[in-house]
Amino acid sequence: MQIAPSILSADFGKLDEEIVAICQAGADLIHIDIMDGSFVPNITIGEVVVKAVAKVSTKPLDIHIMVSNNDMFVDMFAPYCPRYLSFHIESEKHPLRLIQKLRGLNIKPSIAINPHTSIDTVKHIVPYIDMVLLMSVNPGFGGQEFIPQVLDKAIELKRLLREKNPQCLVQMDGGINDKNIQQIKDSGVDIAVAGSYLFGGEYTRQIDSLR
Ligand code: DX5
Ligand code: ZN
Repeated sequence: MQIAPSILSADFGKLDEEIVAICQAGADLIHIDIMDGSFVPNITIGEVVVKAVAKVSTKPLDIHIMVSNNDMFVDMFAPYCPRYLSFHIESEKHPLRLIQKLRGLNIKPSIAINPHTSIDTVKHIVPYIDMVLLMSVNPGFGGQEFIPQVLDKAIELKRLLREKNPQCLVQMDGGINDKNIQQIKDSGVDIAVAGSYLFGGEYTRQIDSLR
C-alpha cells in the first residue's frame, strides 16, 4: 500500500523542511489539498506554495482540488507536473473533457467522490481514469473523524473496477490512522492519504506504523 502524506497538517512556517523530512521518512507521494472557499468552506494554498513544494519534493506530487472551477486550477498547476490530479465529480459538468485535458498535459486523471456520493456517479467514467479518490471525511479540513461507511464503498468500487478498469487505483483520504488502516487495506484501497496522523508524531515511525 502506498502512503501519501497530506501536507495540510504540516508546519507551513517551515514547509520546505517539512517536505524534505516527510519524503525522507518514506512517503510515496506528496498529497496537496487545494480548497477555494467555494466548493468547500475553507481556503488553503495556490500556485506560489505549490511551486515551492514542487521545488523541494523528491516524491511525485498528488494534487487534490476541491474547487468549483476545475479548469482554472488544472491550468494553474499543470506546469508543476503532478503525477496525479484528482477533481471532484460533484463539481464538474464535463468530466470526460477534463480527463482528456489532463491526459494531454501528461497528468494521470483521477476523480474524487465525497463520502455520501454514490459509486454509480463514476460508473461510466472509470474506464478513462487512473485513480478514484474516495473521501472518508467531508472535504474541507484536516483532522476529522473517519466515516466507516466508505469501506463498503471501496469494496463496491473495487468490484466495478475489476469489470471496467482493473488497472485503476483506489485512494482513500481523510481520518486515516493506525487504528483503521488494516480495514482500509482489506477493503482494497491502494493508496492511503494521511495528514494529522502522520504529521502528529515522528514521521518515520508514523509512516512505518501505517505500513
Ligand atoms: C480533506 C483533505 C484531506 C485531509 C487529510 O479535505 O482532502 O487530504 O486533509 O487529513 P487527515 O488525515 O487529518 O484527515
Ligand atoms: Zn485530500
